Amino acid sequence: MAVHPASLFATAVLLGASLLTAQQPATAAAPAAAPEKTAEQVYKNIQVFQGLPASELRSTMQFFADSLGVQCTFCHAFPFDADVKPQKATARRMVKMVFAINKDTFNGRPQVTCYTCHRGSSRPDSALSVAAVLTAPPPPPAFPAPGAAPAAQGPGGRRGRGNAPAAQQILDKYTQALGGASALAAVHSELVTASRVNATGSADETITRSGDKFIISDGAAGKSGFDGSQFFNWNPRFGSRPAEGEAATLLQAEAGLYPAAHVDVSKARVFGPVPMDTHSVYIMFVPGEGGVNSRYSFDATSGLLLRIDTGTPTFIGPLPLQIDFSDYRAAGGGVTLPYDITFASHSQKWERKIASIQINADVPADNFTLPAGTERRGGAGGAGRGAPGRGPTPPAR
Ligand code: HEC
Ligand code: HEC
Repeated sequence: MAVHPASLFATAVLLGASLLTAQQPATAAAPAAAPEKTAEQVYKNIQVFQGLPASELRSTMQFFADSLGVQCTFCHAFPFDADVKPQKATARRMVKMVFAINKDTFNGRPQVTCYTCHRGSSRPDSALSVAAVLTAPPPPPAFPAPGAAPAAQGPGGRRGRGNAPAAQQILDKYTQALGGASALAAVHSELVTASRVNATGSADETITRSGDKFIISDGAAGKSGFDGSQFFNWNPRFGSRPAEGEAATLLQAEAGLYPAAHVDVSKARVFGPVPMDTHSVYIMFVPGEGGVNSRYSFDATSGLLLRIDTGTPTFIGPLPLQIDFSDYRAAGGGVTLPYDITFASHSQKWERKIASIQINADVPADNFTLPAGTERRGGAGGAGRGAPGRGPTPPAR
C-alpha cells in the first residue's frame, strides 16, 4: 500500500478506503483513529451488509444503481430503510448470491459483481442471441482491468512484462521528468489558481497546499481538503464533515503534489507499451491499492503520468474514477506539473484548467483553519451535500 498522511492511513486500513498515492510528509503525526462504525450502527434496516463499514454504504448503493442502470427509487420508496419494493428484497437475495459465488468459487476474491450479469440493465439477458454473437466486441486487452479483483502475483514479480521496464525504472523516469527528486522535495507550499469546467459551465477555484495540508476553495460556497488530520468537505450550511466514499477518493487523489510517487513497487506490475489515445504508454498495475486495483499509465517516451484509473471501494466492487493529466509545463523551482487535469467518475466529468502555479508561495498560517460549523454525517439522505440520491459530492462545488 502506498504511504499516506498517517491518520488517513489508519482510517484507510480500517475502512478499506480507496487510496491514491499521497505525498508523505515526514512530520505527519498519528492521532488515534476512531473506530469505524458498521453499517447497522448508522443505518436502520441493514440485513445483508452487517459488519461492513458504514462509510461504504452510499458508494455501494451507487454501484447497484449504475450496474442495473436504474435510480435509487427502483428499489427504494422513502424512507430508505423501508422495505416496500420487491426489488429491494430481490437485491438482498442477489447480494447473498454474489457473496456466495465469490466465497465458494473465487476463493473470496470479489470477481463477480452485480455488473458481471446486469451490464447496465435491470433484467440481464441469459439467452445467447445470434445478433449478440455477430456483434461481439473485440477481446479485452491483455492487462488486468482497473477495479478487477487483485490477481495473484505473477512469476514476473516486479519486473516488467515483455519489453516493459521494471516498475522502479518507470517511477524513476517519471520523477526525473517532473524535475527530479531534490527539486520536488524542495517544494514546501503551492498556490494554484484554476477554473473547474464541466458540461454546465466554469467556476474559479484556488488550491493551497502546505506540507500535507491542502484546501481547494471556490470562495464562499465551499472548501474541501486535508486539514492535517482528516479529509473534509466544508460549506457554510453544514460546516465541516469528514469526506467519505467517493468524496474521500477524490480528495486522496489531490493529496500529493505528484501522484504515483509512493506506489508500492514490490506489488506493481508493468505492461506495455500499448497505445492510449495518441500516446504509447506503459501501464503500471497496482493490485489492491487501498482496497481497489489501480492502473497508472505513463507516456513511454516522456515518462510522464498521463492517466490513473482507480476507484472507490464498495461492498460489491469499486466505483470507477479516471484522472487524466496533460499540458505538463514548467511551474517554477525546476518542477514540471500538469496544467490540465480531467476527473471522470461514474456520474460526472470535469476538467481543472490551471491558470497559474506558484511554488513555495507564502500561505497564511490560518489558511487551513475552517470556520466552526455543525458536524453532520451518516444517516439516509443526510450524508451527502448533493441532491438526494446522489453520492457525496466532489470537492467544493
Ligand atoms: C438494486 C436495488 C437498490 C438500489 C438501486 C439502491 N438501493 Fe439502497 N438499499 C438496497 C438494499 C437491498 C438495502 C438494504 C441492505 C441490507 O439489508 O443490508 C439498501 C439500503 C439502503 C440504505 C440504508 C437504509 C437504512 O437505514 O437501513 C440507504 C440510505 C440506501 N439504501 C440509499 C440508497 C441510495 C441513495 C440509492 C441510489 C444511489 C440506493 N440506495 C439505490 C437496494 C438498493
Ligand atoms: C449471476 C448473474 C447475476 C448477478 C451477479 C446479479 N444478478 Fe440481479 N438478476 C439476475 C437475473 C438473471 C435477473 C432477472 C431475474 C428475472 O427476470 O426473474 C436479475 C434481477 C435482479 C433484480 C430484479 C429486477 C426487476 O426488474 O425486478 C434486481 C433488483 C437485481 N437483480 C439486483 C442485483 C444486484 C443488486 C446485484 C449485485 C449485488 C445483482 N443483481 C447481481 C442475474 C444476476
